[in-house]
Amino acid sequence: MSITEPAVRAEGLVKAFGEHRAVDGIDLDVRAGEIFGVLGPNGAGKTTTLRMLATLLPIDAGRAEIFGVDVAADPHVIRQLVGVTGQYASVDENLTARENLWLFSRLQGIPSARAKRLATELLGRFGLEEAADKALAHFSGGMRRRLDLAASLITRPPLIFLDEPTTGLDPRTRGQMWDTIRGLVADGCTVLLTTQYLDEADQLADRVAVIDRGRKVAEGTPDELKTAVGDSTLQLLLAEPGEVPAAVGVVRRVLGSDPVLSPEQGRLNVALDQADRAADVLIALRTAGISISSVSVAKPSLDEVFLALTGHGTDDPTKAKENR
Ligand SMILES: Nc1ncnc2c1ncn2[C@@H]1O[C@H](COP(=O)(O)OP(=O)(O)OP(=O)(O)O)[C@@H](O)[C@H]1O
Ligand SMILES: [Mg+2]
Repeated sequence: MSITEPAVRAEGLVKAFGEHRAVDGIDLDVRAGEIFGVLGPNGAGKTTTLRMLATLLPIDAGRAEIFGVDVAADPHVIRQLVGVTGQYASVDENLTARENLWLFSRLQGIPSARAKRLATELLGRFGLEEAADKALAHFSGGMRRRLDLAASLITRPPLIFLDEPTTGLDPRTRGQMWDTIRGLVADGCTVLLTTQYLDEADQLADRVAVIDRGRKVAEGTPDELKTAVGDSTLQLLLAEPGEVPAAVGVVRRVLGSDPVLSPEQGRLNVALDQADRAADVLIALRTAGISISSVSVAKPSLDEVFLALTGHGTDDPTKAKENR
């Protein structure tokens, strides 16, 4: 292993479950020291990709290296290099956070006294001191997530995989998790994370790969991705849902592009390259006699990025969530 090598270099990764190619030829390059985000909707193949890279699932075709070590050829070395969260889901609910961390360390072959010190250090680093001696059964979702991350750091891996680290957390706890992840990188780790949230990729990731139905559809910095859909989005709710076609015509005339129709009746989102183009659209709508019952300007969402990149939304019912 060498830190001059890319943290991850994957070429043409494939995983098929029966006839279904969950991962269908994905290339990834993650540089040492960066936060790399894999962004995609439910069922896109994010978890499957991580599991192959972590040796938890065999790679059907293609190849992957982690710090220059071949994943398929040297799985034992790879397991020393990668910390994976989520694999400690079967922790003992009756043990305390401190006891769980001690136990994980012991399972990694760390002597008892050192395991104790390590547990104390990790509890401090993750803000879990107060809860340290409580049974896990009393932990909130955010505390569990942090304990899980703490456990994955016991072996001090240079590369950490985080599978949707903040899904389901409240905004404050999400913010804490983001700080924790930034702290890991400041300490020299490389982070590969998956997310369904454009804002999370935007806040955290140096570079992002967008995946859809097992394929990579775009890659770049968060700013590059957002320019694919414009800088901001004008969100409109028409007073009369029947006027949507007329409103689409107005937007097309003013901006030269079509708005994204939302499944909600009468709602449409208009991508803007500059936020102040919103005024032009609103004036043209009024001139056309189309009334609006609510209006806001927001950053583009994953849905809009997705639609711009793939031509379809993220809510494809054939890709319903099956794995969580
Ligand atoms: N063990 C399995 N057996 C059969 N199909 C699977 C298995 N694991 C995943 N799949 C399927 O592979 C596809 C990709 O799943 P994956 O879990 O990688 O998606 P994901 O991007 O992580 O989605 P989510 O955001 O819902 O976690 C899905 O269609 C899923 O149903
Ligand atoms: Mg997943």
